[in-house]
Amino acid sequence: MTRHLLSIDDLSVDDMTTVFDTAAEMHDVQRREVKKLPALRGRTVINLFFEDSTRTRSSFEIAGKWLSADTVNITGKGSSASKGESLRDTVRTICAMGVDALVMRHSASGAALQVSQWVDAVVINAGDGTHEHPTQALLDAYTLRQRLGSLEGRHVVMVGDLTHSRVFRSNVKSLTRLGARLTVVAPPTLMPSGIGAWSKEAGFETSYDLDAVLPDADAVMMLRVQRERMAGGFFPSAREYAVGYGLTRDRLATLGADAPILHPGPMNRGLEIAADAADAAQSVVLDQVSAGVAVRMSLLYHLLAGGDVS
Ligand code: NCD
Repeated sequence: MTRHLLSIDDLSVDDMTTVFDTAAEMHDVQRREVKKLPALRGRTVINLFFEDSTRTRSSFEIAGKWLSADTVNITGKGSSASKGESLRDTVRTICAMGVDALVMRHSASGAALQVSQWVDAVVINAGDGTHEHPTQALLDAYTLRQRLGSLEGRHVVMVGDLTHSRVFRSNVKSLTRLGARLTVVAPPTLMPSGIGAWSKEAGFETSYDLDAVLPDADAVMMLRVQRERMAGGFFPSAREYAVGYGLTRDRLATLGADAPILHPGPMNRGLEIAADAADAAQSVVLDQVSAGVAVRMSLLYHLLAGGDVS
């Protein structure tokens, strides 16, 4: 297993399978009344978040606590970063206290890699700008495997703001390596530049026409329209986006009844996903959240303790 988790590239397919297998065992812990394993007793995990987060940060905290690690949360807003301290000084200060793992989210692509070169702690990327969000992709794949079994040959359709999405970039890597057939859909203005060459090399399809690909999907993953990363207009109006690229009630009717609907959250209801789709029986949005704790427990375990789970 890798030392740091900065990108899906750090994991082989065998590593991913190991992470999923351990996550399945961890998932059982989640269903117990007493949710505690001693595996990481005496270890300290810092969650350092320079961008907002609900599920990623709290699930890392819960994952660490259920493995008996001591967990501390630091956010950009409440830290000395807001007094002008550099990222290098902030992380070196934190790690001087004796920290085993640093889970970090930052608005700059490449921030986690940079930090991994400055500190001795294990660094886990919880989202760096528009680059990668590997633990999200792992929990997405875990959720898909729960529903579909092997992903070999299964058709996954990913739709939305691809330009600004780190979830998309990590998922392309994990899903293609796990053998899924992938089609990514976005309006031309939210399709990343250079995707033509990239899709050929990585082996996935691109489309501007959601209605053409949806009926053939074994699973659909809707991605959030990331207004906070947009400068200027990428589409004329919210209504126009929803009509062209939202998972609306009408489109839901064209999707196979067994095809799971995923969304990493937070959802913009009425924009990329209608309430009917978000709350449909085939929606696995909350299963993703639940899987998030199990997958992060598995990762913390393998990166910090290693060996077999007992
Ligand atoms: C994603 C993120 O932060 O990249 N959210 C998450 O971690 N669940 C996706 C998003 O913000 O749209």
